[in-house]
Amino acid sequence: MAASTYFLLVAFLALVTSHAIASDPSPLQDFCVADKDSPVKVNGFVCKDPMAVNADDFFKAAKLDQPRDTSKSKVGSNVTLINVMQLLGLNTLGISLARIDYAPLGQNPPHTHPRATEILTVLEGTLYVGFVTSNQADRSNKLFAKVLNKGDVFVFPQGLIHFQFNPVHDKPAVALAALSSQNPGAITIANAVFGSKPPISDDVLAKAFQVQKGTIDWLQAQFWENNHY
Ligand SMILES: *[C@@H]1O[C@H](CO)[C@@H](O)[C@H](O)[C@H]1NC(C)=O
Repeated sequence: MAASTYFLLVAFLALVTSHAIASDPSPLQDFCVADKDSPVKVNGFVCKDPMAVNADDFFKAAKLDQPRDTSKSKVGSNVTLINVMQLLGLNTLGISLARIDYAPLGQNPPHTHPRATEILTVLEGTLYVGFVTSNQADRSNKLFAKVLNKGDVFVFPQGLIHFQFNPVHDKPAVALAALSSQNPGAITIANAVFGSKPPISDDVLAKAFQVQKGTIDWLQAQFWENNHY
């Protein structure tokens, strides 16, 4: 093989592998604590002066051991995010965390994280969880679902629609989720589709969901709560 062809092949493989492995871009230094006050716009946040960085930049007294209030939530859940917005040291490191509290019969409604895979551990209670594949070659969308008990772990692959539901009527549930992005993003399906501002045309949604326009108008008139804090 000619040297140039070999070089091209190696470069191509490096590109393919880095895309397959990476989620957030790999850091090019030990850390890059977010400087949220910088006017410079980059992918992520500008680095704070490394000489001014101290242990507190990697720390958050997040009280993640404490239960959150789920009583005011319409869907019966409360997601406490620890991403780069709450913990500046996470900038460029491709990881974040969330505590999720579920009321009895509460749920974290169908949503996706555009930038992260999620690994969920049940700390208390029982959860019925699942995700749905993207549109497959056979025109299906396959549901992978499972009932999890305390100590069980489940993975939601990046970008796929997933949910968690506490099926128990008299006990709350708690889970801890780790996510492969400093800023996973969350798109709650119902909120994005029916709660956008301004609203998506009901002509579009009536046809998309194969219902009467009045049904769409009713859905669009509801309050679509964001349960992420
Ligand atoms: C979620 O929990 C926090 C902390 O307990 C609380 O301030 C917030 O109001 C809760 N949200 C809802 C919808 O209950």
